[in-house]
Amino acid sequence: MLELFDIHKSFHDGENELEVLRGVNLSLPAGDSIALVGVSGSGKSTLLQIAAGLESPDRGDVRFLGDSLQDMDERALARLRRSQLGFVFQGFNLLPGLNVRDNVLFQRRLNRMQGASDWVDELVDGLRLAALWQRPVEVLSGGQQQRVAIARALAHRPQLVFADEPTGNLHDTLSRQVMGLLIRLVEEAQSALLLVTHNQEMARFAHRRVRLSKGLVHAVPDELPEDRSRT
Ligand SMILES: Nc1ncnc2c1ncn2[C@@H]1O[C@H](COP(=O)(O)OP(=O)(O)OP(=O)(O)O)[C@@H](O)[C@H]1O
Ligand SMILES: [Mg+2]
Repeated sequence: MLELFDIHKSFHDGENELEVLRGVNLSLPAGDSIALVGVSGSGKSTLLQIAAGLESPDRGDVRFLGDSLQDMDERALARLRRSQLGFVFQGFNLLPGLNVRDNVLFQRRLNRMQGASDWVDELVDGLRLAALWQRPVEVLSGGQQQRVAIARALAHRPQLVFADEPTGNLHDTLSRQVMGLLIRLVEEAQSALLLVTHNQEMARFAHRRVRLSKGLVHAVPDELPEDRSRT
């Protein structure tokens, strides 16, 4: 479904060059989920943005269902993002001036899908959005905004979901519920999930874990030795 080949990305800050990604390779087949971990500043959000075609790499190739994103013009990329991708941003990026319902249904409407569906009902229940449905998103708390952001990313049943710390502002029970929804969507729709999380329990919901370190990804063994030493 998603393949990253030799992805390089640097940022320039005046005189300094910061090499964030130095040849990342990653493959995410349909039905699979990966939790991406790594220290703050290691480039996790940058990698997600590149994988979703929101930023371009300096070098390397991103392929979605075999098609290279680099070969697509802005219009084709926008169409792909609208219909096939779901993105939960670290900063939520909700649409100001709209209420919860219009935020959640936004992408469904762009795709000319009906507003109501069993799946939307399930998201509203699972993310406890019913009581917030008509509220403007500006007045919501951080955790409430995060729940809206998750529902918005999933409402159109995307093929590929990118979620950047989707449970960072939620309590444990709700975090598990959110992970359950994400994993179920992936399994039912044979879609795929690339998840960034600092939380080891949430990372375990994914089929595989990879760590981004010094610009490269490394598989994380299922039983982390540091887990045992910590207890
Ligand atoms: N647009 C940009 N311009 C300049 N530097 C950037 C830009 N975006 C990211 N960076 C730098 O690249 C590095 C990686 O940033 P990134 O946001 O990808 O890290 P992260 O792993 O997501 O961190 P966190 O866990 O704190 O969210 C950081 O040093 C950041 O300052
Ligand atoms: Mg980040």
